[in-house]
Amino acid sequence: MTVKPILFNNLPADLDQVRLPKHVAVIMDGNGRWAKGRGLPRIMGHQRGVDTLKDLLRCCRDWGIPALTAYAFSTENWGRPLEEVEFLMTLFERVLRRELREMMEENVRISFVGNLEVLPLSLQSEIARSMKDTQDNTGIQFTVATNYGGRQEIVQACQAIATLVQKGLLNPNEIDESLFERHLYTTGISHPDLLIRTSGEMRISNFLLWQLAYAEIYVTQTLWPDFNREEFYKALLEYQQRERRFGKV
Ligand code: IPE
Ligand code: IPE
Ligand code: MG
Repeated sequence: MTVKPILFNNLPADLDQVRLPKHVAVIMDGNGRWAKGRGLPRIMGHQRGVDTLKDLLRCCRDWGIPALTAYAFSTENWGRPLEEVEFLMTLFERVLRRELREMMEENVRISFVGNLEVLPLSLQSEIARSMKDTQDNTGIQFTVATNYGGRQEIVQACQAIATLVQKGLLNPNEIDESLFERHLYTTGISHPDLLIRTSGEMRISNFLLWQLAYAEIYVTQTLWPDFNREEFYKALLEYQQRERRFGKV
């Protein structure tokens, strides 16, 4: 049997190493449509999507991108059929358990953002274990948004800050952007430079509302399970052609 070579093991020559995004965020969308197109149940698309994410994580490492954040489950995704939600929760748990050893070997530091307290307890304990075991790793910073909602994140930050004010520990005029950020789930993680959304939808679906303020947005029609290194290369190429002005001229 011949082993298929991994395309683009090294950074493609026409990408500028210096101008790569330092943090890429992805809305992994289109799993259901990928499966439907093949006459398969939706869950098969989610299953396949895990392989895509694994290779993207490795690709970021190979090409020198230090942070990746992936949207795995939104606060709105609870509204899906129960079997699908249950499948996803079990899948997350299974993948975490299975991949922890490799993440250690590959020096990945994993963390989770979102309202984790309402996730199944067995998943919560895998999450806690993977975060604890990898916390001193110095390679790629990999963040998984699970039961994440941007509005919810902002509301919980407001509650935490209001509590400090109520206790007399904080003066309202001390509330500024940097203090606010310290109460977000993503505190300590740089803002994404590039947001990729697969499957063609032109929306951010409640993802990182605060943090994406100046991210470059790249939407591809490709469905998430088909998003490979070549697709990532195209996204980075377009990113490097953008002029980031941050409101200036
Ligand atoms: C994204 O794919 C995965 C999750 C939201 C968990 P979808 O499941 O939304 O796939 P489509 O959009 O229905 O094709
Ligand atoms: C966004 O995809 C959420 C995740 C990828 C986890 P959705 O498929 O849930 O978003 P909408 O419903 O198309 O906005
Ligand atoms: Mg979708």
